[in-house]
Amino acid sequence: MPITGFVSGRSSTQKAYPGKTTPFVILTCLVAATSGLIFGYDVGISGGVTSMEPFLSKFFPSVHRKMMMAAHKSSNQYCKFDSQLLTTFTSSLYLAALLTSLLASTVTRALGRKNSMLIGGVIFLAGSVMNGAAENVAMLIVGRILLGVGVGFACQAAPLYLSEMAPPHLRGMLNMGFQLMITFGIFSANLINYGTSKIMGDWSWRISLSLAAVPAMIITVGCVFLPDSPNSLVARGHTEKARTMLQRIRGIQDVDEEFNDMVTASDESKRVRHGWSNMGKRKHRPQLVMAVLLTSFQQLTGINVIMFYAPVLFKTIGFGSNGSLMSAVIIGLVNMFATLVSISTVDKIGRRLLYLEGGPQMFVSQITVGTLIAVNFGSTGEASMPKLYAWIVVASICIYVAGFAWSWGPLTILITSEIFPLEIRSAAQSLAISVSMFFTFSIAQAFLPMLCHLKFGLFYFFGGWVAIMTTFVYFFLPETKNIPIEKMVLVWRDHWFWGRFIDDDAGRHAHGGQEPVDAVENDRKVVSAI
Ligand code: BGC
Repeated sequence: MPITGFVSGRSSTQKAYPGKTTPFVILTCLVAATSGLIFGYDVGISGGVTSMEPFLSKFFPSVHRKMMMAAHKSSNQYCKFDSQLLTTFTSSLYLAALLTSLLASTVTRALGRKNSMLIGGVIFLAGSVMNGAAENVAMLIVGRILLGVGVGFACQAAPLYLSEMAPPHLRGMLNMGFQLMITFGIFSANLINYGTSKIMGDWSWRISLSLAAVPAMIITVGCVFLPDSPNSLVARGHTEKARTMLQRIRGIQDVDEEFNDMVTASDESKRVRHGWSNMGKRKHRPQLVMAVLLTSFQQLTGINVIMFYAPVLFKTIGFGSNGSLMSAVIIGLVNMFATLVSISTVDKIGRRLLYLEGGPQMFVSQITVGTLIAVNFGSTGEASMPKLYAWIVVASICIYVAGFAWSWGPLTILITSEIFPLEIRSAAQSLAISVSMFFTFSIAQAFLPMLCHLKFGLFYFFGGWVAIMTTFVYFFLPETKNIPIEKMVLVWRDHWFWGRFIDDDAGRHAHGGQEPVDAVENDRKVVSAI
């Protein structure tokens, strides 16, 4: 059996779900996707704020002193920002998000996806007020923990919501709206930091941190008006409401087939007391291993080294404050526009091709950046980089970010939200987000000491991971393009490796008890013809 084929090409008379793409579903997905803004704003704002002098001198005077000394070229460039307290400020949010997303699984399952997003928005709002008003490090960290709780709820619920609402042939595009909002959040934060860094005194960082309230308000108000997904309504016993909602989002009256699959999936899920205990079953192993590995790998690309610390990194290679923040803005723009490439192609060319192009592109640019820094700073870090060189580093980082933005960024969120059966979907999504936050936390925490010790080798380290993960995708990731979400088990059952974990009659219910073995490729074809 070919290892790249994943789904054997069988034919069938099975039909995919009928339906139209309604403006209503597009609008609801757009509103739900704004949940990504709060995560993105946060990722983008901390790097800039932690390189602002008034912020450092108020909360982290020892880092400030070191930075001043490093201005004299004799100091080691690699180590000038290394401070445990400073990294704790950045990474505390991710620890809070990690714990919250575990709890959010129960809330999302019991109260629905929409309510979890709403709770996330409100708590994030409280965090932004606390941070903007901070007078000491404790206030700063408590505020950041609140932001993390908000992010945990939003990241757990929103991707699930989007994948459930979207019709199968647009699921990739609509789900990726979440990642697009993350990138928009990061970009806006970069831009705001660029503007506020010109303000003298405490108002610079206070404005940057308080403006997190804007995305928080957007998602809070937006969520008040959102309907819940039909899958979540069925699972919570609101069967008639769910049918009406499905008719509304699909724009047709006859939604029986899709609706029946949801009811069957929900009945199955009710036989399970809660998703967590069921997750360990052998039949769920392929999806579980995939979600955990993809989310870990996503962070091991090293993306957040760039997202959090781009201004710090650029100062390290010799840009002034202005140049550093400006470069972060450029990178934010590249990140946002490159995500659009993925959005417009993912439902046509599929997930695998985007991963397999993005990976090598990222690998080559990481090796280039590492080598440029090695040649210039060597291992002592005692030099300054000529301007032309520094700009080549920025250009290589842009190429790397573009690769991430059309592959590992949006695809990882999409795939983890679309591969699980309803019975464990909420719990599994929580696990995936927690793993992601764990790695985000660890990398945020480890970056400055790693830069100090691994020096230019840091880029080789992440480049090595990108090579490993791209190989993994090549062999093990099945193509999930255009497969209806409640029929997804079939792509695993028909995969050359993962098939051994899944019973031959798995997915029978997803086809009304008929021809399960023939259905998946046909579904994909029918859906792509829509
Ligand atoms: C990741 C974030 C990252 C962002 C960059 C997201 O998919 O989860 O950790 O900062 O992409 O755009």
